[in-house]
Amino acid sequence: MTQGAIPNHVAIVMDGNGRWATRRYMPRVAGHKKGMDALRACLRHCGERGIKVLTVFAFSSENWNRPAEEVSGLMELLALALAREVPQLKTEGVRVHFVGDRDALSDKVRAGLVQAEADTAGNSRLVFNVCFNYGGRWDIAQAAARLAAKGEAITERSLDAALALAHVAAPDLIIRTGGERRLSNFLLWQAAYSELYFSDKLWPEFDDAALDEALADYAARERRFGLTSEQIAPAADRKAA
Ligand code: IPE
Ligand code: IPE
Ligand code: MG
Repeated sequence: MTQGAIPNHVAIVMDGNGRWATRRYMPRVAGHKKGMDALRACLRHCGERGIKVLTVFAFSSENWNRPAEEVSGLMELLALALAREVPQLKTEGVRVHFVGDRDALSDKVRAGLVQAEADTAGNSRLVFNVCFNYGGRWDIAQAAARLAAKGEAITERSLDAALALAHVAAPDLIIRTGGERRLSNFLLWQAAYSELYFSDKLWPEFDDAALDEALADYAARERRFGLTSEQIAPAADRKAA
């Protein structure tokens, strides 16, 4: 794989935690815990592979409708991650951003998110966006509402700049684990020209080798952005390649 073929920004729908646990006769929350281990390893591996931005879908706007026990388990996991994982991220050069509607989160968690962002603000090796209480529709609507409140024209450019992920370029590669072939309200705006990769592995089983497979698949694709193949790579270049 050539270095140029490494995506700058990888985004992941970490799906399959519940099924991973259920197959083992464990509570679904145990699957989410295991999913956090997988995420820790994945983040490290992304850094090793030279990926500059990792964005993960941790909790969707729609996930509130799950059983209360699972929702509270996920909130506890977020609080635990803030306490246990952030100090490590700080030493590893990772800058964390939380992306999503914070209004529904507890004061303590909200303060934790602000603190984690401040603690890692000086880092630049890898940007890590955690989408929590996030939905692509929420993001587009909040961006439009903010522009309208300021009396600004809504254009592709102004809307793009008002989105919650405006601090990074659009994802080059979106991976979804867990076997489903859908976006489930993830990065609706930003996915316009992302390469999509679906893995049947459940998220807790998505290891370094699985990520490398996804990266190899990405490296073999031709991104055309509406152009023709000849415009992207003239025939002479192709023979040389
Ligand atoms: C993804 O795993 C994590 C969250 C949605 C929080 P799931 O919990 O959706 O796992 P499955 O799809 O039920 O197996
Ligand atoms: C998407 O997974 C959300 C996260 C991974 C956080 P879901 O499990 O909620 O998606 P659906 O319900 O299968 O579409
Ligand atoms: Mg799921």
